[in-house]
Amino acid sequence: MTVLTNQSILSSSLELQKQLSELYFESSEKTRKLVDIFTRCLKEEDQTTTFHRSSEGSTGHTYLCSMPSYLIPEEKITQSIGLVLKWQNSTLCAIEKLGAQIFQHFGLNAPKIHPFSENEAKKIMDSARKIDEKLGSMVNGLPLVAMPRIFAVSLTDIIKNGKLKQLSLQDQELLLKKFGQITLLDLLIGNNDRFISFIPDAEKKFNELSSLNGGNVLIEFEAEDSSIRLKDVYPIDNCTAIELLEKKPIEEEENYDFSLFSEEGEEEGEEEGPQFASQPSSKKKDLIAEFNAVFRSLIQDQDTLCKHFEKNLKKEILECNENIDDYREILSLIPVHYKAGMDQFLQKIRQNPSYLEKLENSMDTKKMIELISRNLKALKELS
Ligand SMILES: Nc1ncnc2c1ncn2[C@@H]1O[C@H](COP(=O)(O)OP(=O)(O)OP(=O)(O)O)[C@@H](O)[C@H]1O
Ligand SMILES: [Mg+2]
Repeated sequence: MTVLTNQSILSSSLELQKQLSELYFESSEKTRKLVDIFTRCLKEEDQTTTFHRSSEGSTGHTYLCSMPSYLIPEEKITQSIGLVLKWQNSTLCAIEKLGAQIFQHFGLNAPKIHPFSENEAKKIMDSARKIDEKLGSMVNGLPLVAMPRIFAVSLTDIIKNGKLKQLSLQDQELLLKKFGQITLLDLLIGNNDRFISFIPDAEKKFNELSSLNGGNVLIEFEAEDSSIRLKDVYPIDNCTAIELLEKKPIEEEENYDFSLFSEEGEEEGEEEGPQFASQPSSKKKDLIAEFNAVFRSLIQDQDTLCKHFEKNLKKEILECNENIDDYREILSLIPVHYKAGMDQFLQKIRQNPSYLEKLENSMDTKKMIELISRNLKALKELS
């Protein structure tokens, strides 16, 4: 006879919840059905349904939600189903979906992203208004993405709750390897909002003021005897750099030549004569080329990448008010294991670039795909 302890009951129900939410994100029809019923639950203010704004996000409006499966007709398993709704502009919705697909293709556990149109998003918003009165003023007119809810903890939180420093040597190595793999894909798609804060400036390369975004990677553990074991790592929010989003007002601003107001006066190579502030500049920065140049230089200099990551991780540990001495071991493993993860994915992409070469282009993902394509070219030239 198997004796079920509290711990095993808890983990088996979590496993079931995980399987159920993955099942409902298997196909568009299933996700639609789930979100339709969830919307009805919100409207009817069902007491077993939850809808909570995440306190961590900054670019979108992310809601962590759950509903009981018995409200879905034909569903035999009785469990809670977790889902996440994120209202954000349509470019970000398209980019986040493509980003997740790329990470999944390379075997990483990114949640499947299902986009909903503005009309559909409005219907959900209207149903949730009673639960969250401020929702309307924040997300009106925006589309949204839905994804399965991951029951795991962010990197920032595992530093704060002490779990990171309790990991075995083997798990620390594995975690760093995963972080290295994620970093390589981030560099390729231009995501500077996770471990490496690179900027479109081939000379400076990094934003030295910023740290890492520990909210964009979730980590799952399992209990084993009296210790904890690393179970999985989930990269979330897999988007391209904010500078590469299609945003009209900012681009127009970049077209203006402000040299008339600069103290230094004209720069080298510029035509003489009066300039007008509203005149388009011939020196408009080619952001994709800048990001590509940074990519080229960083993949050839993995030691610098390791040092930058180490610096960012140290900063995060200190910001969590932790004693840096407790993290000496994991920090010392970065040059070998974080680097090994990067190397592994560098090989993987080099050996099989065809998936990335054939990515479907849309208006919203145009710049992201252009960057990936130039980065792939750089990889070919450098091999
Ligand atoms: N699928 C998910 N499962 C569980 N928690 C999630 C999920 N997606 C997001 N979260 C939680 O919500 C937080 C904010 O989500 P997300 O990073 O997508 O929003 P954001 O506004 O783009 O954030 P930022 O710009 O600060 O990175 C995450 O840090 C995480 O704690
Ligand atoms: Mg985030």
